[in-house]
Amino acid sequence: MNLRILGWLGMASVLMGGAAWAASESGNLSSTETGRHLAPAQLRCEYLKDPLGLDTTHPRLSWILTSNQRAQAQTAYQILVAASESLLTQDRADLWDSGKVVSGQSLQVEYQGKALASRTSCYWKVRVWDKADRPSAWSQPALWSMGLLSQTEWAAKWIGRDDGQSSGPGNGREQFLPATFLRKEFTLGKRPAKAVLYLTSLGVAEPHLNGDKVGEDYLSPGWTDFHQRVYYRAYDVTTRLNVGSNTLGAVLGDGWYRGHLSIIGQNLYGKQTRLLAQLHLWFADGSTQVVVSDATWKGGFGPILEADLYAGETYDARREIQGWDQPGFNDSDWKSVDLGASVNPAVEANPGAPVRRTGEIPTVALTHPKPGLAVFDYGRNFSGWTRLRLKAPAGTRVVMHFGEMLNPDGTVYRKNLRAARATDTYVCRGGTEETWEPRFTYHGFQYVEVEGLPTNAGPNTLRAIIAGSDLAPTGNFECSDPIITRTAANERVTIRANLVDLPTDCPQRDERMGWTDYHEVVASTLYEQDAASLLTKWMTDLVDARFPDGAFSQIAPDVHHFPWSPGWADSGVLIPWTLYWVYADTHLVARYYREIAGHLDSYKARSQGFVVHPIGYGDWLAPDMSTPKDLIATALYARCAEVMAELARALGKTDEASAFATLHRSIRTAFQQTFIAPDGTIGSDSQGGYAMALAFDLLDPEQARHAADKLVAAIAKKDGHLSTGMVTTHLLLPALSRAGCTEAAYRLFATSSFPSWGYFLHMGATSMWERWDAKTEKGYHPDGMNSFNHANLGTCTEWFYRSVLGIDSTEPGFGKLLLRPEPGGHLRWAKGYYDSPHGRIGSDWEIKKGQFIWKIQIPANTTATLSLPRHGPVTIQENGHTVWAHGAFRPGVLGLSSAKLNTDRVEIQAGSGSYRFSVTGAGLNP
Ligand code: BGC
Repeated sequence: MNLRILGWLGMASVLMGGAAWAASESGNLSSTETGRHLAPAQLRCEYLKDPLGLDTTHPRLSWILTSNQRAQAQTAYQILVAASESLLTQDRADLWDSGKVVSGQSLQVEYQGKALASRTSCYWKVRVWDKADRPSAWSQPALWSMGLLSQTEWAAKWIGRDDGQSSGPGNGREQFLPATFLRKEFTLGKRPAKAVLYLTSLGVAEPHLNGDKVGEDYLSPGWTDFHQRVYYRAYDVTTRLNVGSNTLGAVLGDGWYRGHLSIIGQNLYGKQTRLLAQLHLWFADGSTQVVVSDATWKGGFGPILEADLYAGETYDARREIQGWDQPGFNDSDWKSVDLGASVNPAVEANPGAPVRRTGEIPTVALTHPKPGLAVFDYGRNFSGWTRLRLKAPAGTRVVMHFGEMLNPDGTVYRKNLRAARATDTYVCRGGTEETWEPRFTYHGFQYVEVEGLPTNAGPNTLRAIIAGSDLAPTGNFECSDPIITRTAANERVTIRANLVDLPTDCPQRDERMGWTDYHEVVASTLYEQDAASLLTKWMTDLVDARFPDGAFSQIAPDVHHFPWSPGWADSGVLIPWTLYWVYADTHLVARYYREIAGHLDSYKARSQGFVVHPIGYGDWLAPDMSTPKDLIATALYARCAEVMAELARALGKTDEASAFATLHRSIRTAFQQTFIAPDGTIGSDSQGGYAMALAFDLLDPEQARHAADKLVAAIAKKDGHLSTGMVTTHLLLPALSRAGCTEAAYRLFATSSFPSWGYFLHMGATSMWERWDAKTEKGYHPDGMNSFNHANLGTCTEWFYRSVLGIDSTEPGFGKLLLRPEPGGHLRWAKGYYDSPHGRIGSDWEIKKGQFIWKIQIPANTTATLSLPRHGPVTIQENGHTVWAHGAFRPGVLGLSSAKLNTDRVEIQAGSGSYRFSVTGAGLNP
């Protein structure tokens, strides 16, 4: 054992409150002890936990490291991958033994073992070596499995039934067809050792096996351009099969394939929903069997009369088919299925996270604004559906209308849903208590207006189910200012409500589409949700939705083919860049490099002398819309060129990187020459124009100083109100902070009059609104385009994490952190964390009796620059030990290696671990 380390360990037990460090002098550690200095955890493959059915042949493996020591880091790793759990337990890696790889890399490590055949199960574990070259124990085992790697392996046929007749209420414009029930009985002579179901659909499918739903997914396979590709998922059903008769089945709804989409109506991709299912069985004696969807299946129609994403579900429980998914069911009056599909998409493994139920909310209030009408309030706006529980006579019809707000008379406001009927109907079976949830729809709502409930109905009759892509929450933020904390909470709700297979604009009206202005929301999203898998999936949607000339579209998957627009199409560059920046993901960039780079050609074709023509939506829904469109477009052109240079560099394409850097400089110069007046005014003197110029670093230092003053003046001119729209709001706070005007940023939360974030709260918002004036004293905005769950205007979340808490990174992947909180305004404290790809980064500060007290958590295997505020001379202590006094660093505290002054901050270099600093003389007084 290295003596220096022993010294550190000794000191650590003093500095970290006497934690018992268990290293013996010989350096031999027991397996529980080994876990203490550094332990790999949270193993992920392609961003997912234990994913089944991948078709990437070199999946990327990542883990985080935990340690109860400071300044710990991985110096080497070893990965074992085996085709069975028992081999892995014996450390017999028949697929890959990476050996000891001297490297600190714990993210995106590519599998480099034997070529992986279709359907292989890959059990894996990892161990790491710490700074003193001590090995950790092996991690808990994790798993991924391969899917069907070639299209030819699909022996299954597309099946469905084409003679469904509509019998539901429709939506006034369209009729909806019933969901199709499909089944196949088969016999097994022996119990399988392993069974995996590979399944997809044109529509949305719910697989069933021997009487129960398979898996926990909803709305699978999600939305892709079904002309090009459709995604399958794999389900391990080993324990669900019997010796003797078994029944495989599925219920098939319309989904995005056949359902109502935007103003287009139904059948965008096809008129006939279809299932493709293939069940692979492996037996202990080495034999195999495959059950596939084919002409031998039968199909019928049951209680689901309508199943549409916008319209809702209509379910007549009197038509339930008992036992349809079990062996022995008499399907003699079911018909043979229809075969074949009108599209021929590639069938690929789903890279995204499945949609699942992620929570439940009890009724917060139940009112009866009119006789026979009950209104259930769930206290906040979200996406999902409800579970109905009641006892009523057969034929009782319960009609549930979903909405986000109330009318003055207490009924539910639904004008803003436009053509989305957003109504579920349940017709009772009668007899005992009945429980029902829809399975093929979702709604964006806070309120449900219900007709037809029996008189004994109460708050428990209806319970809300929150649903969306099953992504891990990554952050939390709160502070002493209720306006800021509630704004963050409302944006969190909205971000989550809009992650349903893809990033949607809103979850309630007849859109719910992948509008490509989402890049404005992506940074805020990733501080709140681990959306990497969803965004990886969406990147392919973006690529698939390009115009023939390669230009990125306004919506992906595209439905309208609206013309190219700056501010929208930029997702094609900014989404992969963000994934590169946050997750150190170069894979996606490499895969789509040409398509991404093509975005710069789209700009070039629409510009003259590096200034882009005034096209597109401009700063959509800004109160005055005055920021010139050419300014907006040129600023984004510059940003994309800058980012492209970074991406090219990341891939080692140095020549291209310097060409993009040169392009960036030219656009920047053109921006300055075109949009900055001699007196320093930028564009129309709007907040948005200054925000873009400052946040994108388009100005020279002198120009930036002027712009900062003018931005502060532009806010003052509006009396502290916002005049930014969807494109520039997310840049405003970062621009102010970057320009050294953090106080002005905090002041934006000091008002609660229109338009401001405080105004939303003043008007009772429980989520973020699409328009600043979505609701005024006069009532709701008259336009039907009035969502109460739109994230773009609430994108201050990024600033809350990055500037208020100060959680930032100086390199891709959050391996080198910059922790730089910016206290200000009248904030007394702020606290929160971000679960980065390397693990939890915590920041918790308080101003107490003139002292700035800051508790932080830096994940193992990362280092941080800690930037502490000071106004004049300060003394800084860490857990009672002085680390900075009289303008100099005092060494001796474990984990802190150096410090220096940087204008109004002291910057300390720190290794991983938890620290508690107190700064005396910071001059902070909330
Ligand atoms: C969508 C927005 C979108 C905009 C573009 C709206 O209907 O909800 O999110 O960016 O249209 O015009």
